[in-house]
Amino acid sequence: MNTLTFDKPDTDDRLDTMAQGVIGKALPRPDGPGKTSGTAPYAAEYGIENCAEGVLVTAAITRGTVTALDVDAACAMPGVVGVYSDERMIARPAQGTAGEAPVQHIEKVAYWGQPIAVVVAETFEQARDAAKALKVEYNAEDGAPVDPDAQGLEWSEKSGAVRQGDLDHAMAEAAHSVDVTYTTPGHNSAPMEPHAAIAQWDGDTLTVHASLQMLNYNVPELADTLGLAEDKVHIISRYVGGGFGSKLGISPDVAAASIAAMKLGRPVRVVLSRQQVFQCVMRRSETTQRIRLAADKDGRLSGFGHEAKVTNLPEEDFFEPVLQASKFLYAGENRVLAMETARIHQMTAGSVRAPGEAVGMQALEAAMDELANEIGMDPLELRLRNIPEKHPSKDLPFSSRKLAECLKAGAEAFGWDGSDRKPCQRREGEWWIGTGMATAARIHNLSKARARVTLNADGTAEVATDMTDIGTGTYTILGQVAGEMLGLDPADVVVRLGDSAFPRGSGSGGSWGAASTGSAVYQACLAVRAELCDRMGCDEGDLTLKDGFATVGNERRALTDIVGDAAIEREGAIEPGKTQKEYALATFGSFFCEVAVNAWTGETRVRRMTGAFGIGRVLNEMTARSQCYGGMVWGIGSALTESLVFDRRDGHLVNPDLAEYHVPVNLDIPDLEVMFVEERDPAASPIQAKGVGELGICGGAGAICNAIYHACGVRVRDFPMTPDRLI
Ligand code: MOS
Repeated sequence: MNTLTFDKPDTDDRLDTMAQGVIGKALPRPDGPGKTSGTAPYAAEYGIENCAEGVLVTAAITRGTVTALDVDAACAMPGVVGVYSDERMIARPAQGTAGEAPVQHIEKVAYWGQPIAVVVAETFEQARDAAKALKVEYNAEDGAPVDPDAQGLEWSEKSGAVRQGDLDHAMAEAAHSVDVTYTTPGHNSAPMEPHAAIAQWDGDTLTVHASLQMLNYNVPELADTLGLAEDKVHIISRYVGGGFGSKLGISPDVAAASIAAMKLGRPVRVVLSRQQVFQCVMRRSETTQRIRLAADKDGRLSGFGHEAKVTNLPEEDFFEPVLQASKFLYAGENRVLAMETARIHQMTAGSVRAPGEAVGMQALEAAMDELANEIGMDPLELRLRNIPEKHPSKDLPFSSRKLAECLKAGAEAFGWDGSDRKPCQRREGEWWIGTGMATAARIHNLSKARARVTLNADGTAEVATDMTDIGTGTYTILGQVAGEMLGLDPADVVVRLGDSAFPRGSGSGGSWGAASTGSAVYQACLAVRAELCDRMGCDEGDLTLKDGFATVGNERRALTDIVGDAAIEREGAIEPGKTQKEYALATFGSFFCEVAVNAWTGETRVRRMTGAFGIGRVLNEMTARSQCYGGMVWGIGSALTESLVFDRRDGHLVNPDLAEYHVPVNLDIPDLEVMFVEERDPAASPIQAKGVGELGICGGAGAICNAIYHACGVRVRDFPMTPDRLI
């Protein structure tokens, strides 16, 4: 195993000195044809013989206990083979303590819609009918708090608050200030593929086909839940139709299918309905955010306050980290960054794409625009003036930060005119036209990862890791890293993912997958190259690999010849080390957009939007760009339409599907322009790449909020900015 503990920046720019020339290229995804032709098997689509079908039953009370299930009546219905409500079934996905069993027993109801049982039958329709008909008796407890705005809710401060200097004084003394409160609603990840699992037992070994992001967490979670050793749990997630956080931890279908299959002694499939994906997986917490900004006459921040309120269920560890980017993004020596949390009985709050920054940045960037208007200055200039030299509360340098470059490049590409920011200046027929901009920022993380690379006798290579591809392009970029390092066409590199039998990768979460697992593949390739050097009798620096040939000085040999019968198989691993503590690590960017707001209906159309991003080394120009497009689409959704609506009496979700929870459709999205600012970050990862998946959402809705104000003079501080809030 070639393990690198990442204790110092790796300035040895190996990928660029390789001869193959495929890293960074906009190569299409090898998994694309299978996905678009319907032949790539998703979790529920494996043809497993004798598989029974399970459907979850969910609670119709807010808090209490299940006292009885009429199992006999259900089992008398056609095709029904069992009803199970085992305490090992999970009531909610794991969050906060990755790798451990979820926190709550199933018979204790903590929210309306919580899974409480699974009904299993010969066909899906029979299981669904019996699940609907199942009589459940409860002992309901009244008075569970469900409304985050209710009076008398108990709020407590979360640890980790930053308090520096005297913000109140800075606000009182400031030439210009704003003190504004924004709110954002709950969001759902709404992945295209609903959560699904097929479980089968072979003796005491469990195999589950599931739709999960993090097999490296999910195997220990499922083992812990069921009381099994980890080596008895095998999870397969070769194709995942989106996750966006909702598949980070094991979901209720996984444990339910596993337990039902164990009890029945035959395979069981459980597929969540769309409504169940919405109501019993997880939500992004709603937020209330008070932002205070104090500036001198030139727009230099002297005070910066960002205080947020978020909620979750009792016992959960996770809280939407709203202030994550506020901690490092802007200057201001007098600082208050504090979060308050309360427990309410709505479904589990967990990670939804870019937890923290997705909602924190949209409010902060709208407040920054309000400050720029107050001062009467170009909001672009306000951002440029407030880029701190170092992390403002920790004395750390930034590993890389192309924020100013992104702001300028985006402005130029968009044709930003900051000279007249007065609202209500442009009108086309019944439409008010305006422009707005915002900064993008998101933390960068590196995670532990392992991968195996094999150089085969036929001159092809294989990469194997339990890392997943959730639609992000992992199959593509890992093939590019190996192709580059081994001098192979990526078409000759087979990438095998999403099987827990393979070495543990980083999983797809927190935008760390590409940089982390890519670095593990890189380390494995270095070891393969070292073996080739041994066989060639040369130094690494003298070895050139290109197009399946190795060249050392005047000697040129085919890899097939060097490998012969002795395939070269090596594992590589990356362990985060001191660099994580010695640098502030983050990605940055900018958004510029133009909107039209209908003067009569209040309808907003985004007409064009530009994003410029600095993400370290770009591993594949096309997949990276697609991630940014996706993020910007999320930004438009959270700006204009997306909102979970909970009943204020019992906390049940009233819009649990894609008909009522409005994600943008094609006609809502204009031409999006995405550009990358050239950047390498040797402290971010050995392959000098940073995260990209989540950056494109972080701040985009703020740019739209600012453009709406510029168009029609209405400052909406409650997202989403639906027509009723604009009239
Ligand atoms: Mo992400 S919300 O860590 O999938």
